[in-house]
Amino acid sequence: MSAPRDRVDPAPRSGREPSERLDWRTRLIRAGAGAPGTFRSLAPPIHRGSTVLFENFASVADDWRPSSGYAYGLYGTPTTRELGARLADLEGARHTFVTPSGQAAIALVYLAYARSGAHVLLPQNAYGSGAELAQDLLSGLGIRVETYAAGIGAGIAAAIREDTALVWCESPGSVTMEIEDVPAIVRAAHARGVPVAIDNTYSAGVLFDAFAHGVDVSIQALTKFVGGHSDLLLGSVSVADAAGFERVGRAFAQLGLNASPDDCALALRGLQTLAVRLEALERNALEVARWLRARPEVEQVLHPALPECPGHEIWKRDFGGSSSVFSIVLRPEWSPERIARWLDALRLFGIGFSWGGTASLAMAYPRLTRLDGGRGPRLVRLNVGLEAPVDLLADLAQAFQAA
Ligand SMILES: Cc1ncc(COP(=O)(O)O)c(C=O)c1O
Repeated sequence: MSAPRDRVDPAPRSGREPSERLDWRTRLIRAGAGAPGTFRSLAPPIHRGSTVLFENFASVADDWRPSSGYAYGLYGTPTTRELGARLADLEGARHTFVTPSGQAAIALVYLAYARSGAHVLLPQNAYGSGAELAQDLLSGLGIRVETYAAGIGAGIAAAIREDTALVWCESPGSVTMEIEDVPAIVRAAHARGVPVAIDNTYSAGVLFDAFAHGVDVSIQALTKFVGGHSDLLLGSVSVADAAGFERVGRAFAQLGLNASPDDCALALRGLQTLAVRLEALERNALEVARWLRARPEVEQVLHPALPECPGHEIWKRDFGGSSSVFSIVLRPEWSPERIARWLDALRLFGIGFSWGGTASLAMAYPRLTRLDGGRGPRLVRLNVGLEAPVDLLADLAQAFQAA
């Protein structure tokens, strides 16, 4: 390979050097020219980077704590920190850690709070993959996760033991949508010195004020409402105080839970439209839920804002609104095969897991056991998107007809 120059000056340690002094191969690595430095944009910049350059050796820091600036890309870049800081501000948290997924956020909380031999309480209707983690990997580590009924409220006191390290809440619960009495659970847990964590994904961190209700740690799958467009996976762990910050921060750094700055930038964009999307999603979901409630095929609508949803009164007391996801229970004549025909006949509702995006989705759970009276296999969960409700209702109606 021919080189434009053969004399090579020692490579500079940092900053830009006049390019004529350097070999062309060096200039590929250490740019001598580039764009002007001043650019003011409304869009937060995307910083990619593993290595952080220090001004000099005296300023070298090897610490994950954000207070000491930047040390290594794994502990945060300006983009991941921007998202964390905005979420902490929104949720009223001491600090928010951004994780590669909602599931990673759940795992991080377990590993920060529970040691071998510890006992953890988890609602029966908790997110399935989180419950699987509890039964499999955590059980292998000697962490015993016991489930409790979503309606337990202050009754959680009887389930708390000497070795209980953490109480989880999830409200509404996954799929079956029960609202928990979080303040009552917090009071009982704190009376025994036990911290409380919540999966606050349904509320996008804003419809239920976890920290005002005394919760110590609040996680979100940012994958859902904050991302908002079904094109990223991301999670967050927000902590109420300095003790939570140390505990979660150490585990966060040691586990190497890096979130992509590109995904964080998408989430930062998602935050800007979160309020208008949540309002529109709530309106659309309520219109569909009320329509389904009047349908002869439907036995029950499990939507937190409707009175027949378990815990509806608590929702009215504690929540600032409802969001896009709810479930229905079809009447006894709806076998799993007939429900499958109904789902297959839907044209606008996609058959898919997840929720919180712009598109409407439906999913059935033929093996669901936790609904009373063996009604689980007749439950269908819907995520209502931003399509025109009139089209969604027509789609549901034509599919009922076809099935
Ligand atoms: C309530 C809840 N929490 C957490 C998660 C996990 O999020 P992610 O898909 O980002 O891992 C999900 C995903 O469906 C969820 O529904």
